[in-house]
Amino acid sequence: MKTAVPKVYRNYYRQRTANQWLKVKAEVGDPGAIRPFLAGNWKMNMIPRSGVALAARIFDICKDIKDVDIGLAPPFTGLSTLADYIKPDFLRSEYGLGRNVFLLAQDTFFESKGAFTGEISAEMLAAIGVDRVIIGHSDRRTNLGKYFGFGPSIAKRLSRAFLTQELGHLKAKEGVDPQILAALEHLTAEGNQDILAGMARFLEEEMRERAGESDEAIQKKVQACLTHGVQVVLCCGENREAREAQETFSLLDRQLRIGLEVVSPRTAGEVVIAYEPVWAVGEGASPAKPEQISEVHDFIRNLIMDLYGEQIASTIRILYGGNVKPDNIVEIMNIPGVDGALVGGASLKANDFAQIIRFGLNT
Ligand code: 13P
Repeated sequence: MKTAVPKVYRNYYRQRTANQWLKVKAEVGDPGAIRPFLAGNWKMNMIPRSGVALAARIFDICKDIKDVDIGLAPPFTGLSTLADYIKPDFLRSEYGLGRNVFLLAQDTFFESKGAFTGEISAEMLAAIGVDRVIIGHSDRRTNLGKYFGFGPSIAKRLSRAFLTQELGHLKAKEGVDPQILAALEHLTAEGNQDILAGMARFLEEEMRERAGESDEAIQKKVQACLTHGVQVVLCCGENREAREAQETFSLLDRQLRIGLEVVSPRTAGEVVIAYEPVWAVGEGASPAKPEQISEVHDFIRNLIMDLYGEQIASTIRILYGGNVKPDNIVEIMNIPGVDGALVGGASLKANDFAQIIRFGLNT
């Protein structure tokens, strides 16, 4: 990667590795110590009953674990049922767990109520006991166009017949931007069909590949959560194209600066950051290499240092996500600056996720 890796401001957080946090057990929970957070993102899997059964199997294998935070992110339909099941008193008496199990939602909408069919507000999530919301996951930042078919509707609007009709309407109106009229005249002119067809195909492809949540929408979601007392797991990550173009750091810088613009030093403690390189996520992909994870986590912590200062930079949690499995969790948690993991596929298997939670234990 050509972009200079910013210098890391201090080294003390780097010393906390998977094995060290166990050795300094007594210290975990003290101000300044970073408590590992292992969160399972179930994505669109599990009906409520199966989710509770999965959680029960995970807790069974993780009895008495108090030194890590555990996050479970079922789909919206599973939240209420799971919220009822993971009440702290019950977890304490049944599994010896404390208040270290957190209920996560996978998304939210930024308005608090109104005519937004199908959306769920942060206020609603808070009301059923959701602790944190995953915001800006790459499945939502870039993949929505594939599913929602924005592409064909763009293509339809770039047909000669549609544009000719629009041009007619616009010409009949007053005060229309002359540049728009000139562009439409040009595109609908005889002989320019090829340009139009090419543009339509280009835009269709672009929309399919890229349409998704914008940084601005993500920022509003962050704000909505914090306003309603719900914590945030803010995701960031570059796709393969950006990495190959050596744009990883500039892209992460943009995603995080915009997402965090509404986070004050006072509320920064309510935010966890998750770095998920898109190319490392999902079945068939390989996790990022330790050096790649390390340099990005350093970059992010340095950015947090710039934005909020040393105290917050040394306590904010930065998770890694992308093919975290039982056989690589120890190595990943040993990377300086990695404070936990956001786990997809492996979080759906009780044994695998439990092993991930137990990464610091030798048994
Ligand atoms: P996988 O662990 O399946 O690669 O998914 C990672 C992820 O997207 C978690 O949010």
